[in-house]
Amino acid sequence: MTSKIRTLDWDDDALLLLDQRQLPLRTAWVRCATADDVASAIHGLVVRGAPAIGVAAGYGMVLAAFTDPSDAALEEAASRLKAARPTAVNLAWAVDRVLDVIRSEPPSDRAARALTEARHIEAEDAAACLRMAAFGADLLPGDEPVELMTHCNAGALATAGVGTALGVIREVAARGRLQRLWAPEARPVLQGARLTAWEAMQDGLPVTLMADTAAASVLRSGRVAAVFVGADRIAADGSVANKVGTYPLAVVASRHGVPFYVVAPVSTVDLDAPSGEAIPIEERDADEVRQIRGVAIAPPNVTVFNPAFDLTPPELVTAIVTDRGIARPPYGETLAALL
Ligand code: MRU
Repeated sequence: MTSKIRTLDWDDDALLLLDQRQLPLRTAWVRCATADDVASAIHGLVVRGAPAIGVAAGYGMVLAAFTDPSDAALEEAASRLKAARPTAVNLAWAVDRVLDVIRSEPPSDRAARALTEARHIEAEDAAACLRMAAFGADLLPGDEPVELMTHCNAGALATAGVGTALGVIREVAARGRLQRLWAPEARPVLQGARLTAWEAMQDGLPVTLMADTAAASVLRSGRVAAVFVGADRIAADGSVANKVGTYPLAVVASRHGVPFYVVAPVSTVDLDAPSGEAIPIEERDADEVRQIRGVAIAPPNVTVFNPAFDLTPPELVTAIVTDRGIARPPYGETLAALL
């Protein structure tokens, strides 16, 4: 099971990122030659999705070591990369991982060592996606065709592999069982409409796009066997930060008895955050809500609340699918055991 889509590529002395802001209208690549280029690409959503921004930030540290391998410069670059987006813990995890391994090297060897580590992070993410895909697809009993729902984009575009939630859905399709994938559009930035719909169509998955507001009726209809979503950070108690709109889907799924699965590598689990309250939720520019692709859809100065993520409490999560296996409640015990 594979995907045609690649979201990033290392090219000798630069990181190439598929420009996700422009999808699905144009396929363009952004070349990042410095760590600051990578930080602004992450902040500006050229690359997005928790695992993908972790991998990109790992390469950002390689670029930082090319520019200036001194301790002080690397630490500066690491803080700027980590500040690019606050919620997805994979970002800080990858930056710290590269920083930790290169600190013990002499400055002249640091860039080469950073590159080896960044490549490992990328390869491990691709392998983790395949393991999650198999674990997640095994959760669906029987061998009948099923309809599934996702949210945002947790696919190849969001990882270095086949995706987390969308990796599971690809695997269900590879087993000949995917009748339909329901994809909410994911306002305000429309990752469902622009990215998941495009990615699914590129790879031949039967996708149906809908407004976010249509999801509740679809879940009530009884036609959806399960919801699979990704995560940006999972607290020790199993609280899940993911794209805003995940929590309402979990509430409605629970109301109608539809299993709600979260799919994420262990690098997304933050045992230092005891509960969801400890997870910083990014608030983004008001114009993301006031406009669509630069076209005003609201009064230009209206006050806006624009959280990029929301928190789903553990009691609404049926199971968490990781690359090391499946955690079920009580997550306080099962996540710690998996890690
Ligand atoms: O703001 P985004 O597009 O980076 O948000 C992405 C999500 O919320 C994803 O569901 C999450 O990062 C998991 S991606 C495998």
